[in-house]
Amino acid sequence: MLTCSTVDDLRDHRRRLPGPVALVPTMGALHAGHLALIDAARRHAGPAGSVVVSLFVNPTQFGPNEDLSRYPRPFDQDLAACRKAGVDLLFAPATETIYAPDHSTTVRETGLSRGLCGASRPGHFDGVCTIVLKLFNLVQPDLVVFGHKDYQQLAVIRRLVRDLNVPVEVLGIDTVREPDGLALSSRNAYLDPGQRRQAPALRRALVAARDRFLTQPAPPCGHAAAGLLQLATDLIRRHAPDAAIEYLELVDRDTLQPQTRADRSSVLLGAIRLGQTRLIDNLELAATADPAAPANLPSPVHEAV
Ligand code: PAJ
Repeated sequence: MLTCSTVDDLRDHRRRLPGPVALVPTMGALHAGHLALIDAARRHAGPAGSVVVSLFVNPTQFGPNEDLSRYPRPFDQDLAACRKAGVDLLFAPATETIYAPDHSTTVRETGLSRGLCGASRPGHFDGVCTIVLKLFNLVQPDLVVFGHKDYQQLAVIRRLVRDLNVPVEVLGIDTVREPDGLALSSRNAYLDPGQRRQAPALRRALVAARDRFLTQPAPPCGHAAAGLLQLATDLIRRHAPDAAIEYLELVDRDTLQPQTRADRSSVLLGAIRLGQTRLIDNLELAATADPAAPANLPSPVHEAV
């Protein structure tokens, strides 16, 4: 595996990489979710192609009171995980390499990024769009892989690619979970044991609301969003009494606009805080349960790094 941290070295290596080239952008602290993205990148690039992983804790997507300074940075473990996963090139730049001290250009998506996480994290998606477009320009991938876990992020990136005519294919990958349903996240490491026990409540609440939609007969005008959201809220309050609900919303999967009635285009999204730790998850209502893992039981176990 090649590794580099400067723009010149990256461009140099990139020129020599056999295509197609698949990019997996990450902030490191790699877990089985990231590895699933790398696997998908490998499969889609094919045996002749190349997989590039970027590892950069992007300061511009963190708010002033967020966890930039304490974000985990286990570089040696990440390096070993990438090597083991068959990554061809790891790009791990320093902040100064990516942002000139007087950088003054920002990429802003002004529609899909407004609500949900964008409402509680002002400027977050500007930081994400800016770094992702910079990575596209630096790596010039044929394909880029993102997780459904960050549902709004994926929608915003697809919009950016469409609106700015970026010549890249965007692939979305299902969320990898702990056996109790909690979505893997680098931030799960912050949870103390009591918070960790409560954390799966978000997923359970979304699954219960989805199951009501799928299994209970709807009135002629369809299931009201308010009823499904109330069910989810009650479950979170019951199973995670220490959680603060930041948002729970039912939105259209394409526009991310709130819906008053649920239909098969709907997606449930939620964010909760347990102490200082912010957890997000989402569930498309039309998604059918994995036959090997009924909706309210754990998903298959994936080995964590
Ligand atoms: P990070 O949180 O490191 O996530 C990198 C990628 O891994 C994202 O596409 C995210 O959706 C995906 N991912 C995270 N947890 C996952 C899980 N449990 N299952 C499947 N995929 C998962 O997202 C970012 O970094 C940054 O915003 C970034 C895009 C790198 C820009 O800085």
